[in-house]
Amino acid sequence: MGAETQVGIIGAGPAGLMLSHLLHLQGIESVVLETRSRDYVEARVRAGVLEQGSADLLSSAGVGDRMRREGLVHDGIKLRFEGEEHRIDFRALTGRGITVYGQQEVVKDLIQRRLDDGGQIWFDTQATSIDGIEDHPGVSYCRDGKALRLSCDFIAGCDGSHGISNGGGESRTYERSYPFAWLGVLAKTPPATDELIYAYHDRGFALHSMRTPEISRLYLQVDADETMANWPEDRIWSELRLRLAEPHLQPGEIIEDGITPMRSLVIEPMQRGQLFLAGDAAHIVPATGAKGMNLALNDVRILAEGLSAWYRSGSRDQLDRYSEQCLRRIWRAEHFSAWMTGLLHRDQGGDPFEHKLRLSYLRYVTTSTAAATTLAENYVGYDQLDRRR
Ligand code: FAD
Ligand code: PHB
Repeated sequence: MGAETQVGIIGAGPAGLMLSHLLHLQGIESVVLETRSRDYVEARVRAGVLEQGSADLLSSAGVGDRMRREGLVHDGIKLRFEGEEHRIDFRALTGRGITVYGQQEVVKDLIQRRLDDGGQIWFDTQATSIDGIEDHPGVSYCRDGKALRLSCDFIAGCDGSHGISNGGGESRTYERSYPFAWLGVLAKTPPATDELIYAYHDRGFALHSMRTPEISRLYLQVDADETMANWPEDRIWSELRLRLAEPHLQPGEIIEDGITPMRSLVIEPMQRGQLFLAGDAAHIVPATGAKGMNLALNDVRILAEGLSAWYRSGSRDQLDRYSEQCLRRIWRAEHFSAWMTGLLHRDQGGDPFEHKLRLSYLRYVTTSTAAATTLAENYVGYDQLDRRR
């Protein structure tokens, strides 16, 4: 016993929700299965930076109104090291900027819009397995203690890095882990800066980001096996002040905290039969390059185009190229994120030679227009396909 739809989507993160919305705009029906509750998904604090292409996608899909009103448009970032501050001017170097708007706000906007449009998001529904991906795809799921199956034409695995859709098959996994993690806090304190500050310090990396004019988002490099128990609030604030070298940063109530490991991972190909992976289910980047949510949105933009071509004309050409098309941008983002991570984090052993190399590159990137442009065009979002046109 079970239900039927055209596209069964596992996961109500940015990837699954945006895919469901884009398909709806093309008249294609979908069901989103989400293991967590709506409250949980809407409260989960994660990424905060939208590339201009992502912001444009939200706007052109009609889900960008609140982002345009409340999002903070930034034209650059600041790099701090050895008591110096240098600005990388994205607008001057690339003609583009970024929008600071929390992932949880993107998720809230998408959920609201899907529900207003009569869309089906089944919260508290855990996908347990997928089957029939070559001919009769289906997702088995558990809801209210009952085991059921959703039959569909296609399955979109948008269930993040701990989901069920990316196991099995012939896909190859490329992976790298890092010996450090980020301790992140969301705090009720006005940002002490108008643009993001990325700081390289003897004691490790720190980042000053924000969500609103009243709420700051702050990160510290910590060891991979660190726990929050070792970080009372006083220690967090004094370490942030030291590493960011920011006298205006005032401690405020910490609304949320957590430690996120740093990982790079790509699964290739991202498709098998009628199953398509998108977002963190297929790839993970360390957060230094602010690419995670942007890649997720780009994947589903391409997938929605392929699926609508199939429903419109019966042609599979675009769908067959899905993985290949996504992976160019993904690998660029993987390289950029690993590069930014290497540039800005202290290595565990504190190798003095590596430290000097990093400082030399930071000086290069902050004095050479060519080097600054490399950082800027990757940060705002680089697409080789755009360049060929
Ligand atoms: P997700 O947002 O992970 O969504 C997947 C959804 O699938 C979840 O809602 C999950 O509950 C659901 N799901 C999983 N398994 C099942 C199942 N079996 N059945 C049904 N539903 C299921 N990126 C940055 O750029 N900056 C950051 O600061 C940053 N911080 C992060 C912090 C954490 C803790 C994590 C995990 C990621 C962070 N990221 C960050 C990465 C960024 O948030 C992700 O790239 C982005 O969430 C990807 O979106 P997604 O839709 O692919 O996956
Ligand atoms: C964030 O605001 O959460 C954020 C910003 C930039 C990053 C990572 C996270 O590189």
